[in-house]
Amino acid sequence: MCGIVGYIGDKKAYPILIKGLSRLEYRGYDSAGIALLDEGDLKVYKKQGKVQHLVDYAESLSTEGTVGIGHTRWATHGLPNDTNAHPHSSGDSNLVLVHNGIIENYDVIKKSLAKRGHEFKTETDTEVLVHLIEEIKNNSGVSIEEAVRMALREVHGAYAIVVISKDDPDKIIAAKKSSPLVIGLGEDEYYIASDATPIVEYTKNVVYLEDEQIAIVDRHNGLRIVNISNKEISPYVQELELQIEELEKGGYDHFMLKEIYEQPRAIHDSFRGRLNASEGWISLGGLKDYEDQIANSDRIVIVACGTSWHAGLVGEYYIEELARIPVEVEYASEFRYRNPIIRQNDVVIAISQSGETADTLAALKMAKEEGATLLGIVNVVGSSISRITDAGSYTHAGPEIGVASTKAFTTQVTLLAMMAIMIGKKRGTISDTKFQNLLNEMEALPQKIEKLLESNDYIREVAEIYKDASNALFLGRGSSFPIALEGALKLKEISYIHAEGYPAAEMKHGPIALIDEEMPVFVIATSGPNYEKVVSNIQEVKARKGKIIAIVTKGDTSVKEIADHAIEIPETDDILVPILATIPFQLISYHIAVMRNCNVDQPRNLAKSVTVE
Ligand code: F6R
Repeated sequence: MCGIVGYIGDKKAYPILIKGLSRLEYRGYDSAGIALLDEGDLKVYKKQGKVQHLVDYAESLSTEGTVGIGHTRWATHGLPNDTNAHPHSSGDSNLVLVHNGIIENYDVIKKSLAKRGHEFKTETDTEVLVHLIEEIKNNSGVSIEEAVRMALREVHGAYAIVVISKDDPDKIIAAKKSSPLVIGLGEDEYYIASDATPIVEYTKNVVYLEDEQIAIVDRHNGLRIVNISNKEISPYVQELELQIEELEKGGYDHFMLKEIYEQPRAIHDSFRGRLNASEGWISLGGLKDYEDQIANSDRIVIVACGTSWHAGLVGEYYIEELARIPVEVEYASEFRYRNPIIRQNDVVIAISQSGETADTLAALKMAKEEGATLLGIVNVVGSSISRITDAGSYTHAGPEIGVASTKAFTTQVTLLAMMAIMIGKKRGTISDTKFQNLLNEMEALPQKIEKLLESNDYIREVAEIYKDASNALFLGRGSSFPIALEGALKLKEISYIHAEGYPAAEMKHGPIALIDEEMPVFVIATSGPNYEKVVSNIQEVKARKGKIIAIVTKGDTSVKEIADHAIEIPETDDILVPILATIPFQLISYHIAVMRNCNVDQPRNLAKSVTVE
């Protein structure tokens, strides 16, 4: 949450910062602000709302300067208004700072600074940090980088910060702990950002800062990195694989729709080179050295948040069904605070699109201390979770910019299926015929999704009918139950319709009281072992005049007869149904949100990368 950018070089900083902030807007859009250094003058412009508000505001103002920093905010401390917007300035206005994270002991520091005469203009934790740096710098007469380092030794919490100073106009200081920060190395110019998306169009050479490292970017002397104990660190330069086209809408109205339509490609990429049905093998390179350990583990614990947690629930079903290893799926935020039992022979798998989710990262750190093996299923290459885990597999979904997760989810589930099949084969818990059939079906998925996407017009018509609903229920059984949860989450987060997901059989233990003619009930009723039971659940809803929108297998007749609407998905192995069944729900939610004039790609109060707990 919160996106930060910085630039120092020969070019005008302002357009680079604005473009960078637009790319990072998915991380928060409560306010945006920039600071520019221009011939001894330090200008700070900030505005509540989106980056475009800032651009409109700055239109009549000077935007000169070749050094600058910028911020797009997801509010934690203090209302989302102009005053609380970043950058924040020191008392003497010589220093400005942008911050992503939370300074947990800000209150104590604030009170002690206030006693020494500091006056604060905002309600933020960030302003306290810039005052602390100012005080250290002025009292000790140290360099700006040393003042930053000394100040950071006093703070607890998470931070990615970028600081510039009027007194040192040829330097940018950046530092991080638990929030991400990457530095792009151009020709005599440097870019700093929360992720690589603002950097990729200028350079592919980047350095990911590690926790408690401080980067001193000097126009004349280049990049130097020290850690919080002032030990010199050699920068490790990596090459970005990201392509600029992946960050554009490519003709779609919204990123979310583009990302839904990218799923055939994304799923294909997630198994490319890892699975070959005609040759009958499956292999996850990143897990090669850990296959035995996973296969012999006593228990697998999956930690994740939100949509990734739903993928984990599907994974539990897969691994228990195919590999017969007990699995527990935990909300990372609960796991980390409840003194869980973690044993050395446990394998802990973190699932995360961003690879930066604070709770998931903290849960992993805790499991690491207990000696568990840590694996990651992550989308963003080079992200914190991918670096802290012992091994893992990237989902290869490509950048997901719409805040609502779509292709990230289906590729996570694809990887979990591959992992379960691979371990099941190794443990001898699936037959050769089942193994071969699953490989065939996995390879056929992209084509089946292409086919399914052809129902988009029909799905839009169904969406039109239910766009004004106030509530909705989503039902599923077995591995489709997590898809019911995911369907409900998609609808509520982008269209603001209250929705709940339930195992279909749980309805009669409470939620059935909600059913009346106003209530749309979305049910996964595909053919398979639970089919008859789900049909009975549908009858129970119909008997109470609820409206049924059913996801059915192509060629179904029974459910079609009783449902108000039926959306067909191609036939596949029961194991892979969750991947197909989720897509109509993504489209329904998308269309309803568009019809309700909601901001599909940037829903209110949300941010894509949740780097605060
Ligand atoms: C919902 C959504 C969120 C994320 C959650 C975890 O559509 O995207 O629920 O799934 O914030 O994020 P990652 O996967 O980045 O750890």
